[in-house]
Amino acid sequence: MSAGTTSCALLAGLLAALAITAVEPLSCAQCDSTLVSCENVSATVCAADAQSCVAWLTSSLLGDTNMLKQNMSCSPSNCTGHGDTSVVFTVRVSGEEFFHFANQCCQGRSCNGTSAVPAAADQSSNTECPACFGYNTTSCTEKTQKCNKQERCVSLTADVTNGTQSRLLVKGCSDISSSTCGALSAGGNQTVGDVLLIQVNCTDAAASPTPKPSSSSQGGLRAWGGFWPPAGLLLALLLL
Ligand SMILES: *[C@@H]1O[C@H](CO)[C@@H](O)[C@H](O)[C@H]1NC(C)=O
Ligand SMILES: *[C@@H]1O[C@H](CO)[C@@H](O)[C@H](O)[C@H]1NC(C)=O
Ligand SMILES: *[C@@H]1O[C@H](CO)[C@@H](O)[C@H](O)[C@H]1NC(C)=O
Ligand SMILES: *[C@@H]1O[C@H](CO)[C@@H](O)[C@H](O)[C@H]1NC(C)=O
Ligand SMILES: *[C@@H]1O[C@H](CO)[C@@H](O)[C@H](O)[C@H]1NC(C)=O
Ligand SMILES: *[C@@H]1O[C@H](CO)[C@@H](O)[C@H](O)[C@H]1NC(C)=O
Ligand SMILES: *[C@@H]1O[C@H](CO)[C@@H](O)[C@H](O)[C@H]1NC(C)=O
Ligand SMILES: *[C@@H]1O[C@H](CO)[C@@H](O)[C@H](O)[C@H]1NC(C)=O
Repeated sequence: MSAGTTSCALLAGLLAALAITAVEPLSCAQCDSTLVSCENVSATVCAADAQSCVAWLTSSLLGDTNMLKQNMSCSPSNCTGHGDTSVVFTVRVSGEEFFHFANQCCQGRSCNGTSAVPAAADQSSNTECPACFGYNTTSCTEKTQKCNKQERCVSLTADVTNGTQSRLLVKGCSDISSSTCGALSAGGNQTVGDVLLIQVNCTDAAASPTPKPSSSSQGGLRAWGGFWPPAGLLLALLLL
């Protein structure tokens, strides 16, 4: 067997390998949208250099203003660690008000995207967090928000752009994972789409005060209520 046939075989193998990669180009959902969600956008073929699909979404309903920006596209970069990555969380400020953030990378396949509207609050946990929001401010007047199970308290500041740039402060109950809290608080500023996350503080949600806050005096009243001592005894006690 000559050296020539060997290199020919190698070349043929190499070409076959290239052909296989070439017939399977990556397809990603591709969409750039404001105020309308990219929901149901189907994947379309990327440029040849694409390695991953990326998707980010920020949406909020705070006061009487809502915001929604979403982008899904092909990326020439591999995801960190060459595996899917996903940072998705919502900060719930009140029954209706929220700030939602999602950043996903899907290695070699299309991202499903996430819903623009967070799951309904069930407030199933007996815990609560201080909650409020404000633009261009360092403090806001806190109210108490009841949390769902496994939520923690979050206070975050981010620069958001909606025509003009504003610094948003938002506090509330969040389904953010502790690993995301750690990564975001260690990572410093992070730009995702049109949002610059500046600071994220996470704390455990506090137990809500029980429905009988002054239990000792109430308990005392209730004890007397069920068994009033005879008037004569009361009079005797008073005269002592
Ligand atoms: C948004 O997506 C489109 C197409 O998917 C892409 O061309 C564009 O660069 C993206 N924009 C941003 C800001 O990521
Ligand atoms: C996406 O598809 C589902 C199921 O077909 C439909 O119910 C929903 O309204 C669609 N959403 C949008 C934004 O078109
Ligand atoms: C963002 O801009 C849109 C359109 O100009 C407006 O309807 C909406 O209220 C703005 N949202 C915020 C939070 O300012
Ligand atoms: C992405 O990963 C693949 C497979 O591990 C590698 O061949 C390629 O060079 C990487 N691309 C970039 C841009 O890092
Ligand atoms: C997308 O959804 C499909 C079916 O629900 C699931 O198998 C797949 O793992 C999801 N992909 C990502 C990147 O989450
Ligand atoms: C996070 O905590 C630090 C230290 O307590 C504080 O200075 C900062 O204002 C907090 N940031 C937010 C967004 O709550
Ligand atoms: C926040 O301040 C910036 C710059 O001073 C301004 O352009 C923007 O409209 C302000 N945002 C709000 C919501 O007031
Ligand atoms: C984060 O961004 C803000 C606003 O642009 C800036 O004032 C601050 O110095 C930045 N912090 C870091 C750690 O880069």
